[in-house]
Amino acid sequence: MSAYKVSKAALNAYTRLTAKKFPKIIVNCVHPGYVVTDMTSQTGFITVEDGAKGPVMAALLPNVGPSGINNAAEIGIIMHEEFQTGGGFLQVADKKAYLLTNVIEEPYELGEQCLKTNYYATKAVTEALLPLLHLSKSPRIVNITSTYGDLYFLHNKKLKEELQDIENLTEERIDEIIKWFLLDFKTAKLQENGWPLTVSAYKVSKAALNAYTRLLAKKFKNIIVNCVHPGYVLTDMTFQTGFITVEEGAKGPVMAALLTNDGPSGVYFNQTKIAPFFATNGL
Ligand SMILES: NC(=O)c1ccc[n+]([C@@H]2O[C@H](COP(=O)([O-])OP(=O)(O)OC[C@H]3O[C@@H](n4cnc5c(N)ncnc54)[C@H](OP(=O)(O)O)[C@@H]3O)[C@@H](O)[C@H]2O)c1
Repeated sequence: MSAYKVSKAALNAYTRLTAKKFPKIIVNCVHPGYVVTDMTSQTGFITVEDGAKGPVMAALLPNVGPSGINNAAEIGIIMHEEFQTGGGFLQVADKKAYLLTNVIEEPYELGEQCLKTNYYATKAVTEALLPLLHLSKSPRIVNITSTYGDLYFLHNKKLKEELQDIENLTEERIDEIIKWFLLDFKTAKLQENGWPLTVSAYKVSKAALNAYTRLLAKKFKNIIVNCVHPGYVLTDMTFQTGFITVEEGAKGPVMAALLTNDGPSGVYFNQTKIAPFFATNGL
């Protein structure tokens, strides 16, 4: 085991040098435990899931940088402070969107930034990592989505059908749809053209991300690509009003990242369970 031991001692030292060189990045090394994998000839004492706990905990340390799971996102709204506490995020149907007039604001610039971060940046990171993923024996892509990406929230029947029709949908068409949305957002035509009327940019960004996930799964049969709604989690995005902890919210994404090579691809997990992209009640 000489070479293995020296390689890990070198890796530990390199980790410390990297942490010193980049103080803004949280860099650590983790021993996962003695895990049942090929490396231990399946003789480990703990499961892969238990072995993942340390690395996941390290990846979730506060102020951590980008992780292997496409997680970064913006909500694209300003919620007035007095409504940020108590009882969960607002689930207001579009028919009653007017009730939110004094509760949330959705400036165009924030909506545009939301699409850039949630959709285009996820795409850019994915494209940059694809060459590496193709080298792996068990490549996985996990896109963090939301129940708000449910096609239920779109009121344009033709658009719903287009985003469902993965056989004919293209990335170029998704770009056109996003441009169309942004134009309607800017010119106050959301209602006229059947877009979501609350948390609009976020909903469109996650619907686009879901469709992109399915296109990737269709294109790369060697990669398991899925999207996961983590649940309603206690984070800044929910103004700390979520129902579950960050650790509980991480279960679905971690499970999707650990799927075996015969696992499902191109599906949507609501936390840890496969769910439809278009649910009748949207949630
Ligand atoms: N919380 C929930 O209940 C919930 C429900 C459904 C889906 N989700 C999804 O879960 C994921 C995590 O959300 P969260 O609840 O942890 O939200 P959060 O607390 O608001 O964290 C979002 C993260 O995204 C990063 N980010 C935002 N814009 C970025 C950019 N342009 N470049 C790089 N990083 C950027 C933020 O970095 P900074 O802190 O540096 O700004 C922050 O670390 C998101 O995809 C979200 O849509 C969350």
